[in-house]
Amino acid sequence: MRKKIIAGNWKMNKNLSESINLVSEIKKNLPENLNADVLVCPPFTSLETVHSMIKDTPVKLGAQNMYFEDSGAFTGEISANMLKSVGCEFVILGHSERRHIFGESDEMINKKIKQAVKNGLNPVFCVGETLNERENGRAFEVIEDQITKGLTGISEDEFSNVVIAYEPVWAIGTGKTASPEQAQEIHKFIRELISKMYSTSSAENVRILYGGSVKPNNAASLLNENDIDGALVGGACLQAESFVQIIEAAG
Ligand code: PGA
Repeated sequence: MRKKIIAGNWKMNKNLSESINLVSEIKKNLPENLNADVLVCPPFTSLETVHSMIKDTPVKLGAQNMYFEDSGAFTGEISANMLKSVGCEFVILGHSERRHIFGESDEMINKKIKQAVKNGLNPVFCVGETLNERENGRAFEVIEDQITKGLTGISEDEFSNVVIAYEPVWAIGTGKTASPEQAQEIHKFIRELISKMYSTSSAENVRILYGGSVKPNNAASLLNENDIDGALVGGACLQAESFVQIIEAAG
């Protein structure tokens, strides 16, 4: 059985005191019998403080991005080692906002995934088609392309640390969610692709999250689908109440 992951991607929200408030509320309201892994991904400036607040809880820490070099003259960038040193276990890579706003290519995302696994971080590797690509019947092709390029040179052993997140770009922050059937269709396709690229056991073990306007009122129906192993939550993770309701939906 794959354990579900409910991950909160805070994006560029919450200064330090707001981060402390949000994490305190999440901790207070966390279900007692947690059946899912819970992951929070605050901005860099809050990572260390959030880590100190959650280290005795089941909540895990992730960052939202990192650079693929070890160190050096890369002004403004953050390394895998730096993230590890403040308690991160996960790092979101290839988010559509990184791809579309900051121009990250599949090749760059591949380098970042390699660097993350080499340093013992678990990448949450995001893929997803735009509305235009979906309307032109290209969703499967785009997803396959992003996954094969993103995972080039990643061994099966390294892949065991990778979490995949399917986030249709047209559903992110728009209030439009993929229907459970639409999401399940892509998740199943991704699992079959992993089976071809690696093995059936890798395909059975990999956790594939859905992201894109996941809210308390649609989480359960998405999470009920066979191949949906959790959620990457943006807007609804910024309030403890709605984030905890989504965590409960996973249980
Ligand atoms: P959203 O964001 O839940 O606000 O749509 C999801 C994401 O971008 O990870």
